[in-house]
Formats: sequence, C-alpha cells, structure tokens
Amino acid sequence: MKNFTSVYDIDHLRDLIAKALKIKKNPLGNPTKGKGKTIGLVFLNSSLRTRLSSQIAAQNLGLNVLTLNAAQEAWNLEFADGTVMNGDTVEHIKDAIEVLNQYCDIIAVRCFAGLKSKEDDVKESILSQFLKHAKVPVISLESATRHPLQSLADCLTITENWPFDKFGINRKPKVVLTWAPHIKPIAQAVGNSFAEWMQQMDVDFLIANPEAYDLDKNFTKDTKVVHNQDEALKNADFVYVKNWSSFEDYAAMPQVEENWMLTTEKLKSTNNAKVMHCLPVRRNLELSDEVIDGENSIIYQQAKNRIFSAQVVFSEILDELK
Ligand code: CP
Repeated sequence: MKNFTSVYDIDHLRDLIAKALKIKKNPLGNPTKGKGKTIGLVFLNSSLRTRLSSQIAAQNLGLNVLTLNAAQEAWNLEFADGTVMNGDTVEHIKDAIEVLNQYCDIIAVRCFAGLKSKEDDVKESILSQFLKHAKVPVISLESATRHPLQSLADCLTITENWPFDKFGINRKPKVVLTWAPHIKPIAQAVGNSFAEWMQQMDVDFLIANPEAYDLDKNFTKDTKVVHNQDEALKNADFVYVKNWSSFEDYAAMPQVEENWMLTTEKLKSTNNAKVMHCLPVRRNLELSDEVIDGENSIIYQQAKNRIFSAQVVFSEILDELK
C-alpha cells in the first residue's frame, strides 16, 4: 500500500479486515515496527476520534508521532497556485508539504470539504496537493469526499457483529445507510465512503435518503437508493445513521417534511438491527437517546475499531518503507 485515501488503495479487503482484527487481539504485538520512523498527523479540521485513535495506533507500532492542529496552531495556509500572497495567508501549502517531507516518513492529513465550491471538493483540491507534493506515503484522515479509515473501522465492526460461524448464519446481512437530520450543512464524505466500502463487502447494501439528498453516483454506483426510510429499514441487520447535505444543489439543505431521526419505534421493523454512527452525533436530532444508549447500539465499538483500522493501515504502509 503506497498511499491510503480510498478503498481502491487496498488489494484485498477481506485480508485487511482479518489483519486488523488480529491486531485488535494483541495491539502491542509489534511494538518496534515503526521505530525510528515519524508520522505527521496534520489536522486542517477538528477531530476527536481520528486524532486520538491515530495517535494510539502509531504509538502501538513504536512510531514517533507529530500532531499538527494546523487550523489553530500553524500559519494561515494558502491553497491557490499563483496567488500574490499579500493578504491573510502566510504560508503556501506547497511549502508546508515540502517541509513535512523533511520531518516525516508518513504524512496523514484531514482536509474536509469546504462546501463552497462543488468543483473544488469533487476534485479534492487539498488532498490532491498532498498527493502531488508529498515525497512520502499519504494517508487520508478524512478528505472532501471520503473517510476511508472510518469506513475500514465500520467494516471491522460489521464483521465482528455478523459471526457466521457462531450462529451458523449463512446469508448476507442487510446493511442500510440512512440519512438523518442536522442543523447545518455536512459533507457527504462519510456516506460516500461507506457506500464504496460496502460495495466491496459481502452484504446486501441499501441507501435511504430524502429525494433531494442523493449522494454522488460516482460513489453510490449501482447501489439501490430509496426515498422511504420505513421501507428501507424493514428486516435490516445493520442501520448506519449519517447526515449529509445535498450533492445536487451543492451543500444546500432542502426542506424535508418527514422526520428521519432514528427512533426505537422505527427500529421495530428491522431484524433487531445493530445501530451504527461514526460520531460525533447530535443526540435527539439524528438518533434518539434511547437508540444511542440502547443495547443494539454499536457506536462505541465502531469508535474503538478506529484504532485498529489506523494501526493496520500504518503497518501496511510501514511494510512498504522497508
Ligand atoms: N468519526 C470521526 O472521524 O470522528 P472525529 O471527527 O472526531 O475524528
């Protein structure tokens, strides 16, 4: 694995999941693998889980970790090429990345969608600069259109909760990604990414969202999309809840009449579904307290699995460096 920015950077998902779950059994089993190497974790946006799970994963491998909360602590970055920098921006992203090349053996970066220009976000205007200028492997900690470390953790969590051999279950689980309400425009990255990874998993996958909220077809591809949440939830084994803003009317929040918040009442038509959310979650807006705190919620297991998704990816990248 040279870089890790999407599911297309890995060869065999099933093997990667198996390796990650093996690491989970013994996270400190390879404590010197990263000895003498440095990973730079660059955050252009806020984070709790990604920052901490990546730090734990790196430390478990013996990597030196540099964490830069760039939006708060670094110079104000310029992203546009050819700009006369006589305004508020102090350092060009090109120069910042060239300097990171001097300090780091791996660069990991979080760079959310700006949600101002569809064109800039679709072309990954920031991540692409890292891929262009970095001379070391680049890992996405969530970019404008994808959140691959989250999706890998989601795959681990689904695998752990669909134990074929334990119960002799011999059918694919029905996995539903359902849109949820929010108070402000949120990027499509988690939904896009989850769709791409589910397409590679042995599951029956369905997306439910209001009409004006269809995700980009480049990510959903042939996945069935329905606009009726009740219909989608019937017999679901996993329900993944996430908000996103409109892709078509980019970053807008068209009015939705029905209440899409996931409640225990809505879960009654499912197959006792496990409930997932990447967090952070707006309680009693996206999901009810009762669902989040209920026995079918596996959201904290997902959060824990962020460590092992990061650790297996760092480990695979370290193999390439040797
Ligand atoms: N799920 C997730 O990426 O959480 P953070 O934004 O807190 O890192």
